[in-house]
This record gives sequence, structure tokens and C-alpha cells, in this order.
Amino acid sequence: MLHIENLCAGYGDVDVVHNLTLDVLPNEVVGVLGCNGAGKTTLVKAIMGLLPRMSGQVGFLGQSLTGLRTHEIARRGIGLVPQGRWIFPKLTVRENLMMGTQTVGGADILDEVFDYFPVLKSRLSQQGGTLSGGEQQVLAISRALCGRPKLLLLDEPSDGVQPNLVERIGEVIPDLCRRAKLAVLLVEQNLDLVLQSAQRCIVLSNGRLVHAGSVEPQPGARDEHPLARYLSPAAELAADFPHENIQ
Ligand SMILES: Nc1ncnc2c1ncn2[C@@H]1O[C@H](COP(=O)(O)OP(=O)(O)OP(=O)(O)O)[C@@H](O)[C@H]1O
Ligand SMILES: [Mg+2]
Repeated sequence: MLHIENLCAGYGDVDVVHNLTLDVLPNEVVGVLGCNGAGKTTLVKAIMGLLPRMSGQVGFLGQSLTGLRTHEIARRGIGLVPQGRWIFPKLTVRENLMMGTQTVGGADILDEVFDYFPVLKSRLSQQGGTLSGGEQQVLAISRALCGRPKLLLLDEPSDGVQPNLVERIGEVIPDLCRRAKLAVLLVEQNLDLVLQSAQRCIVLSNGRLVHAGSVEPQPGARDEHPLARYLSPAAELAADFPHENIQ
């Protein structure tokens, strides 16, 4: 569905993402883990055509996205929930959601969205900026769903969100894949959310792929999970991990 090959992307003269190859299949949730500054958001921006300079291939549903503007990429069926949410704070919840329907038209999607996140239904006339951080995240995800995407890019949806809503987001993501036939690229530092939702994950470190494999939840302390070492404070300071387990 999403096919990325030898992607290099960055800002100015500096490459941040180096030579990344990644596939996301239909109805699949793929996690992208990595510490602060690993290049996760840069990858998301490159997929959405938000960076001026990049090389390599990004294809979606068998067609190249190279040279397309961001709104054209959205129209092909990729929905973005950016890091920091970027809802419209002065608009009401309903107006925010209606902005999301612009690429596809029609408000009939709203009932489906309330099914996933009932909390929004009672807040329709409230200004977006007055919602809690978690409710704003739920609004941002719902606004993206209103565009009926085939692939959803979620950039750190757990950031600044209260635990009960993180858990709800973790339940909704696999549900979306089953019911709405979505695929999801889930960028996270929250390992629990990736373990809860994703079938596969990659790890970025300094813009390079250092691990790729299936996601295997396992009992025991979270910091003993094999993926946890990529997210520990020590990992943030570490230079490169050896490239390992790359399938
Ligand atoms: N607009 C920009 N101009 C120049 N450099 C940037 C820009 N945005 C990000 N960078 C640099 O690119 C690198 C990767 O940043 P990126 O935002 O992709 O990381 P991230 O993995 O998303 O981190 P976080 O988890 O903190 O969101 C960092 O070194 C950052 O300083
Ligand atoms: Mg980021």
C-alpha cells in the first residue's frame, strides 16, 4: 500500500532520514519507534510532501507520490495527524470535524467517528482550544478520519494525553484497521501503545533504520522488553545502534 524505497530527506543541506526502505500493507499497523530527534516526524513530513528536498521513492497504491503537493497526497487517501495536533483552537469541535470532510464531502462520517470517540459528541459546540490535551488529540484523529483516509499517519498520538485516552486510542487503532479497512503508520515513543496496536515496527536512530521486525508483547516489566532499549535515556545519548534484525 505504502512503499518507501531508499528515502533520504532533510532540511537545507542536512539529511536527517538516510536511505530508508519501508512497506506498509493494507489493514496493517506499523509502529515507528525512536528517541527525540531520531527523524520520525521528518519521515512523516517526507511522506506527506512537506519537505522541499528529498530523494528516493514514495509510492502509494502503486502510484508514485513524487512531485505531488500535500493536498494532492491527502486526496489520494493519506490522512495526517501531526505531532502537536494542530487543531483549530477558535473553531468548535463540529467545525474542526467539518474541516476534515473537505476532501471527501458529506457529514455522514460523523456518526462513525462518534462511535470510536463518543466523548466528542457532547462537545460539538465547544471551542477546540478549550478541550483537554487528550480530547484535542482525539479531535485531531477524528478530523483525519473525516477525510476517509486509506492510510493514517499518526505522529506521537500519546504525547501529552491522559492515560485513559491513550488506552482508548490503543483500542481504536486496531479497530479502525478491521472496521474502516485502514492501514496505520504509528509514530511513537510510547512502547505500550505500539505493543497494544501494531503488528510490526521499525526503529529509527539518527535517521537510520536500526531494527525492523514483528511486535511481540511479552509479560514482565516494560523496560525489560527487547524494544525498550531503543527508547531508554541511554539510547538518546548513544550514537548508532548496529543495524540488526532488518528484514
Ligand atoms: N525544520 C527543521 N529545520 C532543520 N532541522 C530540523 C527541522 N525539523 C527537525 N529538524 C532536525 O531533524 C532531526 C530529526 O527531527 P524530527 O523532528 O524528525 O525527530 P523526531 O524523531 O520526530 O523527534 P521527536 O520524538 O522529538 O518528535 C533533529 O535533529 C531536528 O533538530
Ligand atoms: Mg517528532
